[in-house]
Amino acid sequence: MQKLIIANWKMNGTVQDAIKWIAELQKRLDSILPSEVVVAPPFTALYSAQVILQETPFKLAGQNMHWESTGAFTGEVSPLFLKEAGCQYVILGHSERRSIFGETDEGINKKIITAMTLDLIPIFCIGETEMERQEGQMGFILENQIRKGLKGLHIHDISDLVIAYEPIWAIGTGLTATPSQIEETHGYIRNFLEKFYDAPMARKIRILYGGSVNENNAGVILKIKNVDGLLVGGASLDAQKFAKIVKSG
Ligand code: PGA
Repeated sequence: MQKLIIANWKMNGTVQDAIKWIAELQKRLDSILPSEVVVAPPFTALYSAQVILQETPFKLAGQNMHWESTGAFTGEVSPLFLKEAGCQYVILGHSERRSIFGETDEGINKKIITAMTLDLIPIFCIGETEMERQEGQMGFILENQIRKGLKGLHIHDISDLVIAYEPIWAIGTGLTATPSQIEETHGYIRNFLEKFYDAPMARKIRILYGGSVNENNAGVILKIKNVDGLLVGGASLDAQKFAKIVKSG
């Protein structure tokens, strides 16, 4: 399976920054990429990014969306707008959306269903807190997030799905999970998907790791069993570092 490497800029980057970043990335990577590369700039930079990305193998993702396509939802972004701006992917259920903006498993589930219906591939984020891990709750938390997030979806609907495992304690902290923690957790998620759904189909679901990935640890993480790619935050803002991460795949 080709690895998938995603740059999640969060609330960083102007249109000008996006234009410069893409040019810089193109300069540093060959046209034949070892991995599928996706960038998720802020909404306001998506359209300009799309115009330049047309000449490149890179793809676009939104960082969030609403579960409805149109309507009286002031300040929200429709999945149709993401599609118009050239997105093939959308990040859903990021822990910052859950903890800062109060997103629930139920709301995330509605978003995943809408995204699937409209042919946007969800990058569905799950992860446990440090305390949940210490208390031995990790498996329960992750299973619960998956069950609720994917409620009502049939395995055939979700074989395209991307799951991003991002331990909350590792996001933006410099505390990357150790290779053995990553291997154990990704194996756990894969087994759960195989048990909960149909095993061959569940094997097609890409499981990414995220949380303090950088140009120095990416190579090791990408070699771990059941790691199908990376969701990179802070280190993706620098095109030079992100190019190194992509090259390590
Ligand atoms: P980080 O963020 O790489 O800065 O830890 C990852 C993410 O939140 O997607």
